[in-house]
Amino acid sequence: MGEFDAVYESWRADPQGFWARAAEDVVWTKRWDRVLDDSNPPFYRWFVGGETNTCYNAVDRHVDDGRGDQAAIIYDSPVTGTVETITYAQLQERTAAFAGALAALGVGYGDRVIVYMPMIPEAVVAMLACTRIGAIHSVVFGGFAAKELATRIDDARPKAIVAASCGIEGQRVVHYKPLLDQAIDLAAHKPDHCVIKQRPQEPGALTAGRDLLWEDAVARGEPADCVPVKAEDPAYILYTSGTTGKPKGVVRATGGHLVTLKWSMPNIYGMAPGDVYWAASDVGWVVGHSYIVYAPLFHGCTTILYEGKPVGTPDAGAFWRVIAQHKVKGMFTAPTALRAIKKEDPHGKLLAAHDLSHYRAQFLAGERCDPDTLKWAQDMLKVPVIDNWWQTETGSPIASNCLGIELLPFKPGSPTRPVPGYEVHALSPEGEQMPPGEIGALAIKLPMAPAALPTLWNNDDRFVESYMAEFPGYYQTGDAGIVDEDGYIHVMSRTDDIINVAGHRLSTGGMEEVLASHQDVAECAVIGVADNLKGQVPLGFLVLKDGVNREHAEIVGEVVQMVRDRIGPVAAFRKATVVQRLPKTRSGKILRATMQKIADGESFNMPATIDDPAILEEIGQSLQTIGYARKG
Ligand code: COA
Ligand code: AMP
Repeated sequence: MGEFDAVYESWRADPQGFWARAAEDVVWTKRWDRVLDDSNPPFYRWFVGGETNTCYNAVDRHVDDGRGDQAAIIYDSPVTGTVETITYAQLQERTAAFAGALAALGVGYGDRVIVYMPMIPEAVVAMLACTRIGAIHSVVFGGFAAKELATRIDDARPKAIVAASCGIEGQRVVHYKPLLDQAIDLAAHKPDHCVIKQRPQEPGALTAGRDLLWEDAVARGEPADCVPVKAEDPAYILYTSGTTGKPKGVVRATGGHLVTLKWSMPNIYGMAPGDVYWAASDVGWVVGHSYIVYAPLFHGCTTILYEGKPVGTPDAGAFWRVIAQHKVKGMFTAPTALRAIKKEDPHGKLLAAHDLSHYRAQFLAGERCDPDTLKWAQDMLKVPVIDNWWQTETGSPIASNCLGIELLPFKPGSPTRPVPGYEVHALSPEGEQMPPGEIGALAIKLPMAPAALPTLWNNDDRFVESYMAEFPGYYQTGDAGIVDEDGYIHVMSRTDDIINVAGHRLSTGGMEEVLASHQDVAECAVIGVADNLKGQVPLGFLVLKDGVNREHAEIVGEVVQMVRDRIGPVAAFRKATVVQRLPKTRSGKILRATMQKIADGESFNMPATIDDPAILEEIGQSLQTIGYARKG
């Protein structure tokens, strides 16, 4: 038996023993009484009775262990021309100070704090400061519009919001402060306070009585110590797209999060304390939470906080410059970023200018990695290129080749096999296991690894209904795919209306809600169509109300702007077409999957239940006028 099989089998034979051993690597203020309480499935509680603190394990423990002078964070910001190193001792000081600031504003154990910030050190400090005092952070990505932020404010009901005055997206300034003000106006819940980090590129106007400057807030408080919390207490809530416009508040339990992420660093990523690790994501996404902030810090690594893009800041050599300059050993990005680099520097001329001899592995996640991009990255980087499959809900990989245990043979298009903590099956609609190599709904046998979500924030019913109801005893991932004869997973598509645009997870249902609210739109549909750079992009179909005879281009322009205003630029919704009717089944269900195949120029079987096959011809013609539905 190979080493990976031995580790995986040791987990399968005794999951509780496996995670109890992993938990020995975490500092607890009170040891757990029970590793797992599985008395009320599908609600699982890990390390019951245990008490610990996330911030202590991320920061203070390393200072106590003599790593105070080691770099904890290297903030590298080509958009502002800054490189700043923050040691563990400095991070402890800054975090304790900001935790004290929050406490002085009345934020305490169990209170929620929304963090709405770009990739600046204060974002990480704010997250850690919350966990230091037992408050629950919820970071909101800057590419969302005010309305999305308002929805999260109303769901999380934060006592305070920590924001920056602006973000910098390449050449564009993102107006965080005006967006925040607008969101608070739209929300029914009002935070008591907003703490604002002013940035010189665009300082924000403060609202008297509610807003205060970061520095003033810090001056008001006394440095705060780490507060022990229960293992089951939420460390954070992270909202992610569901199948409606209302996002799901994924909860991460403190103990399970610490144990699983700490285990992942040496075992999945092959990292040792002191190594430099980089996730080129954003703190607003799960990859950012887990692999910019928490896992590298839990493991005593140096993490890179990169405020830039793969291309354009200043060129397609930016990633290689960062890896070389900071001696990065392993780095995470989305395949989209590599496609963007490949497009501008196909022969790796910019790469050749840097010494990457210390570089050990390239990790990918967030979307399917197409074999061409994989091969290009392997040829250029000459290190293992390791695809990870996971989700906001799991918080760490479900499937990956495990660099720190044993590298298994690679199969292009597959993130390899499930890691310990996950047993994955492809199921038929009836819940039967599909034969190896046949496509089914990818479902995970319960219980999952301790970092996986225990529930949705204030919504146990939606948790059960969304993930647990369809296949009793399993968590339904929402992905369809194959488990092959070697146990490798191949993720093929979503089973719901979620699409993946440039590694960003978006709900087409949410976009349809926006289009449907346009005065001239009678009916609509949004699908994800293939895109060479972003993997997928959304495309809208509009059926206009009777009697509307305005220019179609004008209406399309308006709905594009509405999606940008209500969901945000990150939706990358740029194209829509007006059609006479939408193809439907006889029971009235819109045939989105068929429309997507037509748009992508793929062959399809005529759905048996279609009410009027002639519509598909019209859809194809309409798509051709905007550059889709071309064969080959
Ligand atoms: N704050 C505000 N706006 C943001 C944003 C943020 N953090 N991130 C993206 N946006 C905006 C972009 O500026 C863009 O706005 P525009 O319509 O005014 O141009 C819009 O959202 C769409 O962004 P994106 O889809 O990312 O396209 P892009 O053309 O700006 O960039 C890439 C293309 C490939 C460079 C970029 O998508 C990329 O870096 N992808 C990697 C994604 C990634 O790491 N995902 C994390 C998951 S692991
Ligand atoms: P998110 O919750 O934003 O991380 O998005 C999770 C979804 O992204 C998954 O359910 C998949 O649909 C997709 N995804 C993530 N990683 C991969 C991967 N390695 N291969 C294929 N799809 C992926």
